[in-house]
Amino acid sequence: MKKFLWSLISFIIFLVFITSSDVASISDSNYLTIELFKRETISPEKQRALMTLKYSKLFRRDVVIPLVNEINLDFSYYGLITIGGQNFTVDYDTGSPDLWVPGIQCNSSQCGTHNKFDPAKSSTFVPSQKNFSLSYGTGTVISGYEGQDVVILNGISVTNLTFGIALVDGFNTIYEEDGILGLSRQIGQISNPGLIQKIKEKKVLNHTIIAFHFGRYKLKTTDKSFMNLGGIDVNAYIGNIVYNDLINQTRYPGTWMISLHDIQVDGISIGGINSSALIDTGTPAIIGDITQVSKIHAMIPGSNFNNNLWRVPCNTSKIVALVFNNTSYKISPTELIRSSNQSSSLCLSTIQGGLNGVWLVGAAFLSNVYSVFDFDNLKIGFAESKVF
Ligand SMILES: *[C@@H]1O[C@H](CO)[C@@H](O)[C@H](O)[C@H]1NC(C)=O
Ligand SMILES: *[C@@H]1O[C@H](CO)[C@@H](O)[C@H](O)[C@H]1NC(C)=O
Ligand SMILES: *[C@@H]1O[C@H](CO)[C@@H](O)[C@H](O)[C@H]1NC(C)=O
Ligand SMILES: *[C@@H]1O[C@H](CO)[C@@H](O)[C@H](O)[C@H]1NC(C)=O
Ligand SMILES: *[C@@H]1O[C@H](CO)[C@@H](O)[C@H](O)[C@H]1NC(C)=O
Ligand SMILES: *[C@@H]1O[C@H](CO)[C@@H](O)[C@H](O)[C@H]1NC(C)=O
Ligand SMILES: *[C@@H]1O[C@H](CO)[C@@H](O)[C@H](O)[C@H]1NC(C)=O
Ligand SMILES: *[C@@H]1O[C@H](CO)[C@@H](O)[C@H](O)[C@H]1NC(C)=O
Ligand SMILES: *[C@@H]1O[C@H](CO)[C@@H](O)[C@H](O)[C@H]1NC(C)=O
Ligand SMILES: *[C@@H]1O[C@H](CO)[C@@H](O)[C@H](O)[C@H]1NC(C)=O
Ligand SMILES: *[C@@H]1O[C@H](CO)[C@@H](O)[C@H](O)[C@H]1NC(C)=O
Repeated sequence: MKKFLWSLISFIIFLVFITSSDVASISDSNYLTIELFKRETISPEKQRALMTLKYSKLFRRDVVIPLVNEINLDFSYYGLITIGGQNFTVDYDTGSPDLWVPGIQCNSSQCGTHNKFDPAKSSTFVPSQKNFSLSYGTGTVISGYEGQDVVILNGISVTNLTFGIALVDGFNTIYEEDGILGLSRQIGQISNPGLIQKIKEKKVLNHTIIAFHFGRYKLKTTDKSFMNLGGIDVNAYIGNIVYNDLINQTRYPGTWMISLHDIQVDGISIGGINSSALIDTGTPAIIGDITQVSKIHAMIPGSNFNNNLWRVPCNTSKIVALVFNNTSYKISPTELIRSSNQSSSLCLSTIQGGLNGVWLVGAAFLSNVYSVFDFDNLKIGFAESKVF
């Protein structure tokens, strides 16, 4: 019986997901074991403030869902969801298939101060007799029981979505958001079909598309993050969206995986790239092939490799670009820097090694582009993002 194997690689206060057995098996022998650090937990006041964010109305072509950027450093983006009339914040994660939130039975040491689902307060809740356990690498476990309820995403409601009610939440102290909303097309361990597949079945959208603008607070603090659902916001990008066919879905069923053709530093190819890239909104960083990641940093003067982590000069002006389908997408030097350190001229790089032949491309890249995930045509599109 195949289990979905989750892996967690964490660099200072950020998290990375590698999901699905297929992807994980590629990298099984190549995990970096990196120390985990806690990031600040969200205050109850901030949680409540998030809950007051207004949903926009149903049946607009472009439904805009506000996303919240954690700790304003362009790490990870999450939004709202309503389950059985109860509100939660969830990571909108194209790298995983399942929806889960903490349950009311979970005490504070297990689930922290997060919002917790209370089945007794939902007249539409149907418990299932199934328990679940999602295991994340480095020992992080989310487990609990399954149930079905009415789930509302930005005014679009689906009935009988199966989701996980966590009684153990290994992320409770490191995640500001309550849970995770899986947006991949994989066969979920819990949510099968998943939320977007159920929305597609309802035929309330003309296009089953989700698209992301990740605000770039490091460049401009007013740049708001959002997800479009059902259509494309033509004002969110510059130039044209170039699409990429998903690669062999027999080998990587249901994943948002495309071909990565090249990586350039200041326009110069590092060479030898012919890889697969999992495009993962739930991952803050870019995790790649160890050899190729070394090649990239070799072209950034002053880079340093220590303790399995790459650091780059905080003031580097080098521009790393990923090339998908003959189109080069630049990562601004600001986004190449993971964390600034007042007492050092070196900053953690957003590009780290850890995989073999496959790349995990997260927010550090996706914040530079408007990204489109097309469930109807099985394509991912990118265009240069506007900064609002
Ligand atoms: C859930 O969020 C919506 C939208 O912000 C709000 O109208 C509603 O009152 C909230 N419900 C609860 C139970 O807090
Ligand atoms: C679908 O497209 C039609 C025709 O363009 C439009 O009138 C309608 O509002 C769209 N529906 C949604 C849900 O976007
Ligand atoms: C929380 O629940 C866990 C698991 O049931 C238990 O081991 C732990 O003692 C509980 N902690 C508190 C503070 O109640
Ligand atoms: C689910 O887990 C609970 C305790 O964690 C246990 O009592 C129950 O028997 C389990 N149910 C199933 C169907 O495995
Ligand atoms: C939801 O599931 C329950 C129990 O499985 C079933 O009785 C009900 O008909 C389902 N409702 C819909 C709308 O599918
Ligand atoms: C590359 O883009 C072209 C033009 O949009 C498209 O026809 C082609 O299918 C794309 N190729 C791949 C491999 O995605
Ligand atoms: C897709 O992957 C499967 C399983 O690895 C393989 O048998 C098949 O030949 C691949 N198809 C293509 C077009 O590469
Ligand atoms: C890229 O890799 C694929 C599969 O590993 C292979 O079929 C293809 O020939 C390679 N292309 C180049 C240009 O190396
Ligand atoms: C990129 O362009 C070259 C030259 O036009 C072409 O041979 C190649 O097939 C293109 N690659 C993709 C992925 O479309
Ligand atoms: C910041 O840099 C100093 C000097 O290099 C180093 O000792 C310290 O560990 C760094 N702090 C972090 C959080 O990286
Ligand atoms: C970057 O900072 C270093 C000192 O930390 C300095 O020597 C160098 O000139 C700076 N480079 C640029 C491009 O500003």
